[in-house]
Amino acid sequence: MTEESEHEAQNASEYASGAEQRSADHSSGRSPREDGETASDSGASDVVRRDRFSGGPARGFLSSMDDDERIFATDLAVDRAHVVMLAEQGVVDDGEATAILSALDEVESAGFDALPGGEDVHAAIETAVVGRAGDVGGKMHTARSRNDEVATCIRYRLREDVLEAVEATLGLRKALAEVAEEHAETVMPGYTHLQPAQPTTVGHYLLSYEQAVARDTARLFDAYARVNRSPLGAAAFAGTPFDVDRERTAELLGFDGLVANSMDAVSTRDFLVEVVAALSNLATTVSGLAEDLVVFSNKGLVELSDDYSSTSSIMPQKKNPDTLELVRATAGDAAAGLNGLLTTLKGLPRAYNRDLQNATPHAWEAADAVSEAVAVAAGAAATAEWDEAALAEAAGEGFSTATGVADLLAMAGVPFRKAHEMVAEASEEGADYAALDAAAGDVLGDSLDAYVEREAVEAALDPAESVASRESPGGPAPEAVAAGLTAAEETVAADEAALADERDSLAAAAEKLRTEVSRYA
Ligand code: ARG
Repeated sequence: MTEESEHEAQNASEYASGAEQRSADHSSGRSPREDGETASDSGASDVVRRDRFSGGPARGFLSSMDDDERIFATDLAVDRAHVVMLAEQGVVDDGEATAILSALDEVESAGFDALPGGEDVHAAIETAVVGRAGDVGGKMHTARSRNDEVATCIRYRLREDVLEAVEATLGLRKALAEVAEEHAETVMPGYTHLQPAQPTTVGHYLLSYEQAVARDTARLFDAYARVNRSPLGAAAFAGTPFDVDRERTAELLGFDGLVANSMDAVSTRDFLVEVVAALSNLATTVSGLAEDLVVFSNKGLVELSDDYSSTSSIMPQKKNPDTLELVRATAGDAAAGLNGLLTTLKGLPRAYNRDLQNATPHAWEAADAVSEAVAVAAGAAATAEWDEAALAEAAGEGFSTATGVADLLAMAGVPFRKAHEMVAEASEEGADYAALDAAAGDVLGDSLDAYVEREAVEAALDPAESVASRESPGGPAPEAVAAGLTAAEETVAADEAALADERDSLAAAAEKLRTEVSRYA
């Protein structure tokens, strides 16, 4: 053994003992991450930082290890695809690929907590691979950088998160459509400025949210298409002299193409912005639904299930809509995440800057919180009991059918503005037939039945008849709501199929990668 390789072998065994140290620390209940910051932990020096950059008071500050747990499996997949490609291109030989790939299997079986210290999961995995495979493990990082590696990992993992958010939107849309169907003709008050405005139906109301959430689904899919591109092979930013096959690693990782320019590939996090913006928009949509249900339950129009309610620690009689209040609050957190992300990215120079490390968790947090809030909102919406009697009574409050009377007069040829003026006067004078008749005399110069039959006016004043008369496309009349329901069911089915397609293609890529890796066993 030459002096040099003896030194390297010793280094390798140090790295391996770093792993042992780390897992020993972990089983003693101490956080391996905190221990990674102590100089006595040989895990403090990873293969990237070596002795010179192994310690110092900023170690913990620099580390992304805690956040990186989320991309542990991802980084292993990215490593495997890269090594398979290097072998296929003749950059490493098959024996070397076999040694690295089996070390990666061992690292995977040992799990995240067994990783040696390192400033991030990429360095820690590489350290563990070198520790297990020896010097040949050092060939894994040929023709790449952590810059293209981390960008690839984020995109790879984020795909799953976006699809999970899509699934959550579909769950909510199905819950909304189901209850809308059940209450397609249940009359309820519709509000503007929180005041009774015009009667509508629970079906029409719930479909309004189904349609909005459908756009959120579409925005997530749209963002997904741009997330699903591979930066791998960009290296630090300036490409590599090795004959890499970027299309091949993209294929093995299930990406739909490349982020071609190598400098853009490592620099951009615009895909995080798109995803968090879509999540933020979704959370904002759902916060409106949550707020409505809080208000409606306060008015006694709907009763939330106990499962989605809470109580007071002092006032035993209380049943509070805490769950929906937290759903409402999630929109604030998501918006804060979007703002944090944009603020972090704003003004960053080309190419890679470490600020980017802090950008990523904004996306993880938004994805987790918003998907959970959407699922909770779906459960609350599916289980809430609408009180038909209370809704019917409230639907007629506040002369909410007044617009219908004005419409009737306008249909009889009275200019709408005149009809509006007349009904406005009646609404101040008693809001009933007699008041309307008197106002007709004042404003129009003749009794009301000179324009429309009394029966028609009485019908227009009835909330259910009022709803039934508004059968314009997308309106609340039963036929229009039925059409809305059919459209909603069709879009839900199409989006479910699209989600299944995306998941199938990710699963197929994972299978393909397994097959390719197994050739080197
Ligand atoms: N953990 C880092 C991140 O998330 C990895 C990249 C480090 N690259 C570098 N050039 N220092 O961005």
